[in-house]
Parts: sequence; C-alpha cells; structure tokens
Amino acid sequence: MIDIDAALSALSLTDKCRIVTGKNTWRTVAFPEAGIPAIKMSDGPNGIRGEGHGGGGTPGVVVPAGITLGATWDVELLGEIGSLLGIEARRKGAHVLLGPNVNLHRTPIGGRTFECYSEDPELSGALAASYVQGVQSHDVAVTVKHFVCNDTEIERMSVDVQIDDRSLRELYLRPFERAVKEGGAWGIMSAYNKLNGEHAAQHRGLLTDILRTEWGFDGFVVSDWFGVHEAVSAANAGLNIEMPAPVRVYGKKLEDAVERGDVTEAQVDLLVRDILVLANRVKADERDANVEEESVDEPNERALTRRAATAGTVLLRNDPVAALANSPVLPLDASSLTRVAVLGPNATIDRSMGGGSASLVPLGHRTLLDALTDRIGPDSPTGASVIFEPGVRIDRLTPVVLKSQLRQPNGEPGLRIEYANGRDWNGDIVVVQPAPTSMIRFFGSTPDGVDPRGFSTRISGSFIPDSDGPHVVGIVSTGPFTMAANGATLVEDPLMELPRSEEFFGYGSVEATATLECTAGTPVELDVRWATSEVNGFAALRVGIRSPEPADLMDRAVAAAAAADVAVVMVGTNDEWETEGFDRTTMDLPGRQDELVRRVVAANPRTVVIVNAGSPVTMDWADPSDPGSAAAILTPFFAGQEQAEALTDILLGNADPGGRLPITVPVRLADHPAYLHHRPDHDGEGNGTQRYAEGLFVGYRHYDATDTPVRFPFGHGLSYGDATWGDAVLDAENRSVTVTVPITCTSDRAATVVVQGYVEAVAPGYMRPRLELKAWDKLTVEPGTTVNAVLELDPTAFRRWDTAADDWRLEPGEYDIVLAASANDERQRHRVTIS
Ligand code: BGC
Repeated sequence: MIDIDAALSALSLTDKCRIVTGKNTWRTVAFPEAGIPAIKMSDGPNGIRGEGHGGGGTPGVVVPAGITLGATWDVELLGEIGSLLGIEARRKGAHVLLGPNVNLHRTPIGGRTFECYSEDPELSGALAASYVQGVQSHDVAVTVKHFVCNDTEIERMSVDVQIDDRSLRELYLRPFERAVKEGGAWGIMSAYNKLNGEHAAQHRGLLTDILRTEWGFDGFVVSDWFGVHEAVSAANAGLNIEMPAPVRVYGKKLEDAVERGDVTEAQVDLLVRDILVLANRVKADERDANVEEESVDEPNERALTRRAATAGTVLLRNDPVAALANSPVLPLDASSLTRVAVLGPNATIDRSMGGGSASLVPLGHRTLLDALTDRIGPDSPTGASVIFEPGVRIDRLTPVVLKSQLRQPNGEPGLRIEYANGRDWNGDIVVVQPAPTSMIRFFGSTPDGVDPRGFSTRISGSFIPDSDGPHVVGIVSTGPFTMAANGATLVEDPLMELPRSEEFFGYGSVEATATLECTAGTPVELDVRWATSEVNGFAALRVGIRSPEPADLMDRAVAAAAAADVAVVMVGTNDEWETEGFDRTTMDLPGRQDELVRRVVAANPRTVVIVNAGSPVTMDWADPSDPGSAAAILTPFFAGQEQAEALTDILLGNADPGGRLPITVPVRLADHPAYLHHRPDHDGEGNGTQRYAEGLFVGYRHYDATDTPVRFPFGHGLSYGDATWGDAVLDAENRSVTVTVPITCTSDRAATVVVQGYVEAVAPGYMRPRLELKAWDKLTVEPGTTVNAVLELDPTAFRRWDTAADDWRLEPGEYDIVLAASANDERQRHRVTIS
C-alpha cells in the first residue's frame, strides 16, 4: 500500500503536475522514488483490448455489447459479466477498465448506441451498478463513461448539449448516480461534449458539485482521450487525469497556472490524492503494468458469455404460419430438417461487436453457418444439408481482405509489414511482423523498437482473387501512402492531399479507389508504402478489395430458400456501419437486405429472420397487417463471441430467448423523439449546439405520451413458454412499495417472464411522462410451477426533480403501479397513496 501522505510530500509541484497526465496512451506516470507505480487502463467495455497494435492485439473474451446486456434485464448476470471482465483485465495487466458506457439511447442511430444499455435510465443504472461491482471485486477500477450526455457522435469533441436540469437529473445523470451510489464506482470518464456551454471535462458543476459533493463520489475522473482543453478550469473542476500522452493541458501548463495563482497547490494535491487512492484500490504496487498480456479461453467463461447472449437475444415475433398448420416457426424441430438454407451477409462473418474503441480481437469466433452446420449439418445426427447464400452485399467501403485471401512473401497467410522509424518509408527496417488482414491500426502502441511518434511501413504480399474481372481497390489512410499492384502504381496519396472523412475517428482520408483486373486464383503482388501523419496516438491504414458482384446473387438466395424446409436469413449491419466516430444517417438496413427478406419470406413462409445490428433498424417487413411479412424474427443485437452458438441454441429450442427490448423500435426514423433536434445548430463561428428539446420524453416516454405507433415497444420480447400472472399483492410502507406477483407457467416448456413495474402519477398537476419504469423482476418459471416476481420500489420511484427548488421532491398523492410485459402491454394496475 502506498502511504498517501508520505508519497504526496515526496513529490515536487512539477511531479504533481506530471502525475495527473498520461505516460503514454494507456498508462499514467510512475514515480518509483515516491513509491508510485504506473496505472494501466484498457478499453472496454465489452472486453479488454489491452495495448494491442497493428491488425491485432492480444485476443480476449468478448462479452455481448451493451445493448444486448441491456436486453437481458438481468442485474445479477451483469455482476457475473463484470466479474469476468475484472478477471480479464488482470490477465491483460490492466488496473482500470474504461467502461461501462451508460449514455442513453437518445436516438436509434447513435454511432455508439450498441455500447450503451438502454433508453431507460433506471434499467441502465441498475445494470451498470451491478457490472461495476463485478469488475471491482477483482481490484480493477471502472470508469463509468461518458459523463454526461455523450449521446451522439456528431461533432463529438465539441458539440454543446443544451439541456434543462430536470431532464438531466431524471434521465441522463441517473445511470451515473446509480453506478456511483449503488455500484460504488471508483472512476468516471468525462465526456467529450460540452454541457450547457462548458466542456464536460472542465465542468465543476458536474465533476465536483454533483459527483463529489452530492453523490459522495470518492474516486478519480479521467478525461476522455484528447477531451480536455484547458488546465485551469479542468483542475478546478476536479479532473484528476488528462489522457493520453503526450501532455497537452496539464503538466507544465498546470504548474504555470499554480504559479500564477489560478489553481491552488491544495487543489492539485486533491487531484493527486485521488490517483494515489486509485493506485491503492487496484493494488497497483503489487500488480506490475508490464506483465505480458495473456489470452485465456476457459470453458466456464465461454458458457457465461453464451448464457448472456441467449439472455439478451430478443424474440420479436413468432406468429403461427398457415403453411405449418398454424404453428409458429420457432423453435425448429431438428429431427424434421433435411435441407436448411442459411442466407444473408452476416451469416458467414462474425458480426458480434460494433466498431471503434470498444472493439478487440476475439479469442475465437464462429459464424452462424458454422454453428448451425455443426449441430444439424451432414456430420450431425440430424444429417441435414445446409446451403449458404449471401443474397446481397452490405459493405460500406471496399471490404477488408481476410487472411484466407492474403499470402506473405514466405507463403504464410496474411501480409508482411516492415517497419522503419521516421516517416520516410524508404528508411532502414527495424522490425518485421505479419498482419492477419489488410487493415492495420495503431492505437497508442507500436511493436517494440518502433517509435510511436512517427514511423513508416512497407507492406507486401499477394492477394488471391476468387473471381475473374474488375476488382475495386480502395484505401483509407490516416497518413501518406502509395500502393502498387504487380509493380504498377495503382492508387496513392503521398502528400496527404485527400480530404479527411469520418473514418478512423475523423483522422482517416476519404476512400481512394482504383480498378484492378483479376483472374481467379492468380495472385496479385501488392506493395503498399504507408507512414504515420503527425503524433496523435492513432494511425491506421485500410486496404479493401471488392470483387465483381454476381448478377444472380439474390436470385440464388431466393432459390435456396424455396428449395429448403426452412430458411434462416441473417441480415444486419456491421462494425463499419455502427461505430464510434459517426452516427448512422438512416435506420434502414444497408444494401438490398429488405428486398432479400421480402423475397425469401415469399419463397418460403417457414423463414426465420435474424436481425444482427447494434441498434434498431427499419423493419417494414415486420408489419403484422401485411400478409407478406416475416412471421419469426429474432435479434441478438451484437451478442459477443458466443453469438452464433447462442442463436443456434435458440433456433433449435435448446435455450429460451431471454431478451426484452431495452430500446423502442420505431416504425420509421422520423418518429423518434429527438429526430428534429438531432443535428447541431451552429453560430457564426461554427460552434454546434444540440438542444435536447424533447426533454423528459425520451424513448417510450414519448411514444406513449404521443400515442405514436411503434414497430416493437420498449420491454417487448417473447418466450417459448407461456405464463399467467396472478393478482399482485402490494405492501406499502414509508414511501416504499413491494409488489409480489405470482407467475404460473402453463406450457410444457419453461417460460421466461420479465414483470415490468411502471409508475404513473394519477393526477400529477405538473408535467410528467405517463409511464416511467421503476422496477422489474426477471424469472424463469418451470412447467407447472408458480414463482413470485418481486418488485421493490423505493422513494426514488416517485420523486421528480424540482427545478425551482434545485432539489428532488416527492409529491404526495396517488400513484398507479402499472405491471406490464412491455411499455405497450399493461397487465394490471394497482393504486398506492404516497404521503
Ligand atoms: C472513447 C472512449 C475510450 C477512449 C480510449 C475515446 O475515443 O470515447 O470511450 O475509452 O477513446 O480508447
């Protein structure tokens, strides 16, 4: 343990102003002479990426993305997931996990919607608190992020969120409040955006008044990466650590500010003290950040991630089908299958996580086609034939080339990367390493011997085409490059003249493309020279190659569906459509996937549609009044490394789809409440402001209040089992209410039930959304048994923020507790009087 007082007095002012900064992208500065070790941080939040670089990184466990975890509605499970990630963090030598992300699903198209749990603050907060406890039980700190209102990726480093106090308190701050008060979070990450005019990282009202004084937070606050701009306000606000290095704001500038008297040394001591408390909490003096990162694949951890994936997969629809004698399509009876068509672009590629800082190299992953073929294919007891057809393409850019189509000069799969220090790609080679794919990324670290401040590469190998004809080659780069194919220059940007785009967090160029004539099986020699731009801790190159699209791609899929007993069509997005860095511009499925679904359903009514996307998509083919609509629809969102196994478990009825929507699926994009205020407005100087003009009416609160039809309501999800709800018994005491609801399983399969408790003020006399989720209980009820759902509502369930008094207020009066199976499926209501 560090003796905090002794360590503090051993540090000079210069040291103290240095310790509040990063040493590099992921670590803080160590002061061994004062007994202070380095602290290592890692993304987060659906796995531990570690300090990996290039196309790789140390493979790790990938748990379901935040939205899938949100769909579990299972507080206890989140504790188990948090605990697994705490263990993973230790394996990667990390003391701090950069997560969970508890920003709200304010819109269905946020670039990071997949990372966050829900549109509802209580669901988000309860899950986050449990995750935090799980992670921290292994002496690993969390940083609950991004504090606060980082709910869009548009102008993400600068946008000024204009929000009223009541919506801020009741909605956006609430998950943080629960993570701090109930979860005991040791860390918070400030947001990039401004809040009512001040950068979140420099906002004393947030970082000190609310967080520390009101909530009693006694941990540390780290800036989001490059998200702090000015030393005096940040230090006085209570921002403990500026990340990453090189130092831009604290360090010398903070020291000067102390010398000028703009920041007191006592304030700097407070900042440092919290970092030393962190070091003690995570036992950094006993756990060296330099340990080698380990990959561990434990069967019980795989089982947990699979259980979480099934628990968060939502069965949206499972209607009876006339062609099946009015039975539903799911679950499939494996013994009756002889021919199965697996269709759709996502069925053969792992799409189990979104893009950006949350992504990592999975330990292993399987595709739906692999998992289904193993279980029902020719070599299984079922012995069915399994036919795959992609049907459509959905690439946003030219597709990254995978290992199977790349050969290093020595014949091994992949490409060879030769590194030189400095930005001249003809410089002396210092390191040679393979790359598994044609995308390389450097987020803070480089191979040993390669200078992260500036380096260059020569990338060589060959591409093996699998078809004849013109292929489109595309390059997106954060630095200068030139690319030759078979010795002739094909595409280049040696002076970085290409405009920047949204790619690679805004550091990437637009995609430069050229055409390359190929013959199937004849290797094309590639030679790419690439260098970093300036020092910004992030550098990347993406080479994509698109083969000619067969004209009959969709027809083949439709024919396969028609000839099969059952068609499983997996549509969705991927980590390039849903990623940190930008919001989607539409809710529609990319490419011609809607057409594919409609044609497949028309060809075979026994079709299961799997929507594999990290946030809602338009599903016009799911309208129950349309006879041509899909009868069976499942969504796992992005369900982590075991997604394919979990889906197979559900398809074959070996597991119940346990998920309930943590976000409303609107009929169309324009229906969502923030639609009119999603894009920032600008003043003459280009400063963007984003007004949260929908106020309290986020998600179901809006659709309910305005009676707007939705495609699938918040909280919706079906089970394979059936259950009846008995009359609830209420026990109200001291402004707290316990609701007990007996649930009886009436089918011969176990039923998963989530009893949702919404509070409705009977005659509020002030503005209030009609329904607000305040408690829930998730149960599995075995056939023939009755189990009680128990919902606990404490006084926070009835309070509201009183802006005039600048405080919480509990209005005495009558409230209905609405017990429901979704925001649109009320089952019972019970009146209580709160005094
Ligand atoms: C993201 C954070 C992340 C950090 C480090 C930022 O761009 O907003 O969520 O933890 O990078 O990767």
